[in-house]
Amino acid sequence: KIQGVIFDLDGVLTDTAEFHYRAWQRLADEEGIPFDRQANEALRGISRRESLMRIVGDRNYTEAQLEEMMERKNRYYVESIQDITPNNLLPGARELLDELRAAGIKIAIGSASKNARMVIEHLGIADKVDAIADGYSVQLSKPAPDLFLHAAELLGLEPSQCVVVEDAESGIEAGLAAGMLTVGLGPAERVGKAHVVLPSLEGVTWEDLQSQLFGTAA
Ligand code: BG6
Ligand code: MG
Repeated sequence: KIQGVIFDLDGVLTDTAEFHYRAWQRLADEEGIPFDRQANEALRGISRRESLMRIVGDRNYTEAQLEEMMERKNRYYVESIQDITPNNLLPGARELLDELRAAGIKIAIGSASKNARMVIEHLGIADKVDAIADGYSVQLSKPAPDLFLHAAELLGLEPSQCVVVEDAESGIEAGLAAGMLTVGLGPAERVGKAHVVLPSLEGVTWEDLQSQLFGTAA
């Protein structure tokens, strides 16, 4: 029986995936490195350093230059999230969080971001979640299962008792590797490996999710 839901943050509960994209785009433009929205799709859920390594490819940069670029990108990103308010919750997110709480289902955030806590505060949902696993929690990032296993542990649950909600291919892979049920939000090209694929959380109830995951409301 499912007792916990682990939500990715960026691109699932709020559209910060767009802000991450814009910050990387600005950095890539400044560096004269080709990059676009399409290339960014593969960076969803991926850590800051791994994202940068994929953007620079085989170009030669020193460690100091890479660190400066990560700092610069993060500066652009942090600037862009200052104005986030509860209005930046994506459609359906608040309703689902409230419904899960009312049903006694535990809720965790499982985000690769080191800025996750700040975003959660700005969104005003800190009191709606039982645990936060973020970019400081584990060494190995998605698609490794570690972050979600850590989130389950924080909730005091077995992986098999948890559902992961993700917008990233790397995140779905991480959820599957953790032995959890997975809900993918977005196009099938990106999240098609998930047990259930939905366009967004808009209008999605806990009962809907259970019936799609199990073929019947559990
Ligand atoms: C993930 C985002 O949640 O966090 C990625 O999907 C981002 O785009 C990653 O690179 C790391 O975020 P941060 O804030 O630590 O640079
Ligand atoms: Mg995401």
